[in-house]
Amino acid sequence: MSKKGCFITFEGIDGCGKTTQMELLQKYLENHKGLTVLKTREPGGKGLGEEVRKLLLNYDGEVSPKCESFLFLADRAQNIDIIVNPAIERGEVVLCDRHTDSTIAYQGFGRGVNIEELKKLNDLATGGKKPDLTIVFDIDVETSMKRVGKARDRMEESGEKFFEAVRLGYLEIANSEPERVKVIDATQTIEEIHEQVVSLFEGLWGADVVCL
Ligand code: TYD
Repeated sequence: MSKKGCFITFEGIDGCGKTTQMELLQKYLENHKGLTVLKTREPGGKGLGEEVRKLLLNYDGEVSPKCESFLFLADRAQNIDIIVNPAIERGEVVLCDRHTDSTIAYQGFGRGVNIEELKKLNDLATGGKKPDLTIVFDIDVETSMKRVGKARDRMEESGEKFFEAVRLGYLEIANSEPERVKVIDATQTIEEIHEQVVSLFEGLWGADVVCL
């Protein structure tokens, strides 16, 4: 059976545990399924993307929400063109820590940038390509902020009200695209969450997904 690779994104508010789950899924796919996995993240990935990440997370002056949006989108275009699409072409499983839904949730629901405009800009950045599966790790803001702790980056300094709006944004996205976006209760144990992530992957793989 020939698979053409697939694209899975991990989403949720800061401190939701998605990065740990991405690493566990990577190990599972490599060790139990013999798949080649490529891990990337937004903002970041590599090269220029990591430079944009530093700006976005560390800059300590005033930042306009639209400027913030464009920087995340610029990084996204770079990640998709340079890292994600070539890996999918090679038939790999691409796991991406944050993607288009972060911009809708954080800059749209959180900062109040026009959501319809952001969707168009997301399409421009990605060429219209959507993830095959998106997992939202849902957690209450109080628990997530405890996990983030006291050392916070520029985004994590945005306050509880902001993160409440972002969380609701994610749940609304999941409601509007139930086929693509699945929500997992991220207050469960790491093992319980991992089992659910694996079963979502198996559903996707079993359905013989071809992304391109
Ligand atoms: P990251 O280290 O990925 O967050 P964490 O590991 O805590 O989940 O940092 C990325 C930050 O950037 C995070 O606060 C979410 C934010 N972000 C946006 O606001 N918009 C976006 O489009 C993306 C990709 C990230």
